Amino acid sequence: MLDIVIMAAGKGTRMKSARPKVLHTLAGRPLLQHVLASARGLGARSLIVVTGHGAAQVEDFARGEFPALPLVFVRQEPQLGTGHAVQQALPALGDEGTTLILNGDVPLVRGETSRALAEACAGRVLALLTVTLPDPSGYGRIVRDGTGAVRAIVEHKDASEAERAIDEVYTGMMAAPTAALKRWLASLDNDNAQREYYLTDIVAMAVADGVPVVAVSAASETEVLGVNSPQQLAELERRFQRRQAEALMDAGVRLADPARIDVRGSLVCGEDVEIDIGCIFEGAVELGAGTRIGAHCVLRDAKLGAGVVLRPFCDVEGASIGDAALVGPFARLRTGARLGPEVHIGNFVEVKNSTLARGTKANHLAYLGDASVGERVNYGAGSITANYDGANKHRTVIGADVHVGSNCVLVAPVTLGDGATIGAGSTIGKDAPAGQLTVARARQASIAGWRRPSKKSAKDGGGA
Ligand code: UD1
Ligand code: CA
Repeated sequence: MLDIVIMAAGKGTRMKSARPKVLHTLAGRPLLQHVLASARGLGARSLIVVTGHGAAQVEDFARGEFPALPLVFVRQEPQLGTGHAVQQALPALGDEGTTLILNGDVPLVRGETSRALAEACAGRVLALLTVTLPDPSGYGRIVRDGTGAVRAIVEHKDASEAERAIDEVYTGMMAAPTAALKRWLASLDNDNAQREYYLTDIVAMAVADGVPVVAVSAASETEVLGVNSPQQLAELERRFQRRQAEALMDAGVRLADPARIDVRGSLVCGEDVEIDIGCIFEGAVELGAGTRIGAHCVLRDAKLGAGVVLRPFCDVEGASIGDAALVGPFARLRTGARLGPEVHIGNFVEVKNSTLARGTKANHLAYLGDASVGERVNYGAGSITANYDGANKHRTVIGADVHVGSNCVLVAPVTLGDGATIGAGSTIGKDAPAGQLTVARARQASIAGWRRPSKKSAKDGGGA
């Protein structure tokens, strides 16, 4: 039987933030969400989250995000150390089996690593996750005897000169036999440099009890790095993004620069996708085969078909783009924009909650909101749908093969029949019939012999 304790009560003083540390985000998701997501697959009987600073906020978040997990919250107030934190969780633990202890601020630990730790424990061995660091300062050191057996963990502040030279450190994660853990924690004291109840003191107790202690080494440094400061958070973000970029390239995606892409969610790519520098992908994004994304595009919850070309500086959210469409530069596709195949959307064009059928073009400076647009429509520069009357939104229906001239205002609700042509500069408030030219603007007039006014001078008899 497995129980998991996640320590998430600490203040995170060095973040210098009103937000609880475990709710700061990595790749767009709170640190705690990464930890819970990796713990989810372990089949634990319960996941006990120890909260303190910002407890209510942390608990609401976890409950809201993982309603199906067997979450239990215990509060630690005040925070007297990691041993004290786990003491708060004891009443919620089972009587036997394995207790896996994770950190709410170590977001990239992989499920496999946690599983290996729990398996190494198997309810009878104390298993510590360790890593060797070029600069171990600040960490608890793994002290071994002449035979190489682990004897204790010594915290940096309590370590002797010789112990500080040890470069194998404790990562903050362990798996312990639950019954023994309860016994050991009951006899912790805070007789140390920080006057804290150290969880790490249980290692020497296990040795004294004759319980075997093993060190499981982490596969990479990245997965055991914790977040204590904005610098560490940013560093971990880059490492995580690098990992995702490598995975994309392994799948054949061509990135102009793996150091200049940010994926904050899931990005699924077909064959031969190319992504230029500075792009951000949020939520769930899908890119079809042969699609090319220009520099500095931001896509959120979007689905692009095959062979789409997105030119630089586009903002796409909640939209779908059909095969071989051409979009941008500087286009904005908002929620409910559904572009058919071969649609062209040019610079400074905004589309919201509108369907554009195959081959339709809006190439410059235009707005389409709440519109249904047929095939092969040409929508002129500067034209807009006036879809909002100040209280309600109304629809514009544009048939196939319609040409809308430049600078038109389509005052919705309005329908333009198939093949209609709308003269430039028209304000269209009534339906335009199919196949006809509709013009709604003042007629042009020229006045022969007209003279510009000229300034009156004093000798013309003017004056003040
Ligand atoms: C701890 C370990 C150290 C290890 C290091 C790895 C102890 C005594 N030391 O040190 O050996 O090398 O992690 O990063 O365990 N927390 C609480 N309540 C508390 C104190 C801490 O919930 O009263 C939580 C924190 O929010 C954090 C985690 O426990 O998520 C670790 O606490 P932290 O103060 O960062 O431990 P370190 O001193 O870094
Ligand atoms: Ca610390």
